[in-house]
Amino acid sequence: MYKPHIGSCGSSTIMFISKFSRLGAQAFKGLSEAPLTTPSRRSFFPIVQNAYSDSLTRKLFSTTPTDNPQGENKDNQKISVTFFDKDGEEQEIKVPIGMSMLEAAHENDIELEGACEGSLACSTCHVIVMDVEQYNKLEDPTDEENDMLDLAFGLTETSRLGCQVIAKPELDGLRLALPAATRNFAVDGYKPKPH
Ligand code: FES
Repeated sequence: MYKPHIGSCGSSTIMFISKFSRLGAQAFKGLSEAPLTTPSRRSFFPIVQNAYSDSLTRKLFSTTPTDNPQGENKDNQKISVTFFDKDGEEQEIKVPIGMSMLEAAHENDIELEGACEGSLACSTCHVIVMDVEQYNKLEDPTDEENDMLDLAFGLTETSRLGCQVIAKPELDGLRLALPAATRNFAVDGYKPKPH
């Protein structure tokens, strides 16, 4: 009867194939368990991924206000003005560009009367510009304003009518003093009420 014979050479071949199979199985297992964020995968799109993740990180975790060009413009459209009352008490307010000092005073409960509401028919909105440099930046007063100023109580070289002083960027930091009284209601101690 024929008996198959396995020699020493055949035995070595079987051992080699078996060992090779085990190594292949281990390599496949290693690949399937590798995480998706291994460096080899990220390296396909390194620049795009970094730019995107940086931007996302800034938006999600930034503690600074979001860029807002409109907000910046809004702030730029206001100037700082300080009023000094007859007792020397000061009050700093923000005044939008284009608004008169009379309107700004009324909006902030500052005691500047303005009996004719800006129609150049009184002098109760008299203010004194405290800095000559700032005074020179104002538009020249009209004849009507000068006529009313002539009636103002305590007229000075830098007096103006508050309803005719309009906020503009160059006037940022303007300082205005309120006279102790007005000609129309020149009564010591009288406190005009804003409208
Ligand atoms: Fe009358 Fe200014 S409010 S002139």
